[in-house]
Amino acid sequence: MKAALLGFGVVGGGVYTMLQEHPGWEVAYVLDKREFPELGEKLVHSIDTIVNDPAVDVVVEMMGGTKPAFDFVAAALKAGKHVVTSNKALIAAYYNELTALARENGVALRCTAAVGGGIPWLTSLERACSVDTIESISGIMNGTTNYILDVMTREGKEFAGVLKNAQELGYAEADPTADIDGWDIRRKLVISSNIAYGISIQEEDIPMSGIRGITAEDIAAFTEAGLVCRMIASSARTAEGISATVEPMLLPKGAPEAAVPLNYNRISYVGERLGIQAFFGQGAGRYPTAANCVRDCLDIEAGKRSFYADKAVPTTIRNEGSLRRYYVRANDAAAFADVAESKLGCGIVTRAIPVPEMYARAEKCSFFAALREE
Ligand code: HSE
Repeated sequence: MKAALLGFGVVGGGVYTMLQEHPGWEVAYVLDKREFPELGEKLVHSIDTIVNDPAVDVVVEMMGGTKPAFDFVAAALKAGKHVVTSNKALIAAYYNELTALARENGVALRCTAAVGGGIPWLTSLERACSVDTIESISGIMNGTTNYILDVMTREGKEFAGVLKNAQELGYAEADPTADIDGWDIRRKLVISSNIAYGISIQEEDIPMSGIRGITAEDIAAFTEAGLVCRMIASSARTAEGISATVEPMLLPKGAPEAAVPLNYNRISYVGERLGIQAFFGQGAGRYPTAANCVRDCLDIEAGKRSFYADKAVPTTIRNEGSLRRYYVRANDAAAFADVAESKLGCGIVTRAIPVPEMYARAEKCSFFAALREE
């Protein structure tokens, strides 16, 4: 099997090493705009070289972002190449287009590393939803924010310094805004929900709030109250349709997610008959992410052609039936006077309000987090 890699960064370098360890596999090309003398003639700067070479079986895209990744991946699919990608931004934004292109051209499109890094989450979800109805998915899908919240909780440090540590450790996206404000997690929730429920949803439809405003004082108050803050992505089938949010949540300190340390991820689904299945592990990093890309390549070699879900029904998120209590530290306290129920630290806790009602007032908050009742 001949592979062409798009991107020779952290993940691309890992796939380059790992894929060639498998008998029968050769990396024929590596496309990158930078120069890498050690790659010799394998290094190319034009996608045309790859799509015009009939010997290339699989294109593995690890460039990140949507431009030019979409054009390159679309060209590869149209040229009859199987595609493996770790790019969550690409799959979340072009879910319908790319799954349709793969189907029309009779080739595989696999993206297991796009959610959960090295965790076999999407492949497990694929197996589960082929035999059961998935009722909900939930969890920690971003290592950077979990690292920040965990270290702030254990060491009492302020946000800015811990974010800097996370960047130095290489967990954060190039622009850490994608991590701390929730963009990265929301893309992972879109892909997971699309597959779990056989739907197609838009990123901007999911309410999202991040941890940019959290302080050591907030965390101290949560600890005092027996609560642990974690960034939680969740979606569920409800009476109204599909609900979904990406937001900090306050969990009882005994909740499984509260014990997730450092940059680890923990994601779970609940199946109607299967009940809960939870997955814990390294959600980022060179070799965990590369391992899922390589496994996708081996699955394609073994004949895997289908996408994770066979339906993609266009769906609008409906959160109006989801009622939650929120911890709110407001910059305009009057905006919450009608829903405040009790005090917590420097903020208040609201009575249970519909999720859209909270997000309608989000701009009046310095920080807010939902209370998850167990
Ligand atoms: N920045 C991401 C994280 C990388 O922190 O989880 C993996 O998607």
